[in-house]
Amino acid sequence: MFRSNAMHPGWPQPVGPIRVPAGLVRLRPIRLRDGGVWSRIRLADRDHLEPWEPVAEVNWELRHAVSSWPSICSGLRSEARKGRMLPYAIELDGQFCGQLTLGNVTHGALRSAWIGYWVAREFTGGGVATAALAMGLDHGFQAVMLHRIEATVRPENAPSRRVLAKAGFREEGLLKRYLEVDGAWRDHLLVALTVEEIETSATSALVRSGRANWA
Ligand code: ACO
Repeated sequence: MFRSNAMHPGWPQPVGPIRVPAGLVRLRPIRLRDGGVWSRIRLADRDHLEPWEPVAEVNWELRHAVSSWPSICSGLRSEARKGRMLPYAIELDGQFCGQLTLGNVTHGALRSAWIGYWVAREFTGGGVATAALAMGLDHGFQAVMLHRIEATVRPENAPSRRVLAKAGFREEGLLKRYLEVDGAWRDHLLVALTVEEIETSATSALVRSGRANWA
């Protein structure tokens, strides 16, 4: 049983699973022992990930060493305990294969958050991100009680734009020179969904469309 946290409804519950062509996908809180696999994937997949991620002061190799994970993980989990974030690992058939995060969670009259994700290259093309996003949306709108979830994506990121479109995200505009990514200030599309736009749930829409099955 997960004790509900009055400051942060919905955390630290796992979400799912649902089945897609790649296998069984679920979300669960990141943990300290993810460090080995996280580092291995992030170092091997640098060219797959770096074009879409914000720059950092520390270089890629150092930032993704196994020894960097404990402080990253505890920093994210501390944000989660304060009710500001939900940092999930995406599991495929029980194995860590990426991350999905709801961040900048605000309650009160805004009840909003951003959502972002990545999937190891080896496991792409089988519906993993689509399933993870649908589960993240349902969790955000239901357990976390959000009203709006937004995302930003580079116009050049065709796979991620497709993932967002499949979930029903609406384009709201182009944010000029929004984020420093891959060595320059890059334009990003702002996309969003409010709870009124979800019919029943994002996961059941995915199942109805034939892209996923209940586990
Ligand atoms: N052009 C158009 N569509 C494409 C392309 C392309 N070049 N490549 C793939 N696609 C489509 C696929 O056909 C599929 O759509 P379909 O189901 O209609 O056939 C869709 O993109 C991918 O769907 P999934 O299989 O659910 O996604 P996947 O598990 O492969 O993960 C992801 C996609 C997360 C974008 C992965 O490639 C990744 O991690 N990329 C690097 C990091 C990244 O870009 N993260 C997202 C940043 S933006 C954000 O977080 C809001």
